Amino acid sequence: MESNIENAHKGDALKVPNHLAVTMDGNGRWAISHGKLRSHGHKAGTDALRRLVEYSIKYDIKYLTVFSFSSENWSRPKEEVNFILRLMRNYVASDLEKLDDNNVNIKIIGERAGLDKQIIKLIEKAENTTSGNSGLQLIIAFNYGGRGEIARATRNIAKKILDGKLSISDIDENTISDELYLSDVPDPDVVLRTSGEYRFSNFLLWQSAYSELIFIDDYWPDFNEEIFINILKEYAGRERRFGGVEAK
Ligand code: IPE
Ligand code: MG
Repeated sequence: MESNIENAHKGDALKVPNHLAVTMDGNGRWAISHGKLRSHGHKAGTDALRRLVEYSIKYDIKYLTVFSFSSENWSRPKEEVNFILRLMRNYVASDLEKLDDNNVNIKIIGERAGLDKQIIKLIEKAENTTSGNSGLQLIIAFNYGGRGEIARATRNIAKKILDGKLSISDIDENTISDELYLSDVPDPDVVLRTSGEYRFSNFLLWQSAYSELIFIDDYWPDFNEEIFINILKEYAGRERRFGGVEAK
């Protein structure tokens, strides 16, 4: 059955990206604007993430990458960091079964060294439980930074050279892509950032070279189906040329 929202957009040109990447920003400001503590914003942000996953399944997005915690977020007050970590842990723990039932395949990208053992265990459980699923691939960027990812790729490449498995003259763009966390995942077609901030903030730096960038003013906890459809509409209106002259 079609929802009212779908009905309202009947006839509009929508285009569903194969890979959507989202920086879920504005939890703190949303909370402050409602006279609440920042932690309320993070909690509401988790519900918004649940909605995003639901729409991604409904509209048949193949890859969804979400920026949940950056390698720079550790610089926040300890209580806030702990709260966010607990929320993420609870999200994965409480939703894993449902995500698995919905055929969602979970992957977590980011630096694992130095993470709490419990978190690592949960990450592995989420990945292992859902590894056979063929539906939406949900990629959670956790303790992730784009520069760190490229530095890590560089270390792997240097090691291959030292081991005699690769020669310097053979290094090309694919050599680097192949050493990123998920080399088999296509680049994001759309990178969305909420809350009126116009920055990459170290998210998918290499992968977003040709992505369509969409910035919206809404704070992340307000994310809903209407906003989601508007993004599909915006994307439908973009002409991707990949440096050429004709739309592909
Ligand atoms: C995004 O919301 C959530 C995380 C980065 C974990 P923020 O916490 O950055 O919210 P603002 O930007 O302070 O409003
Ligand atoms: Mg922010």
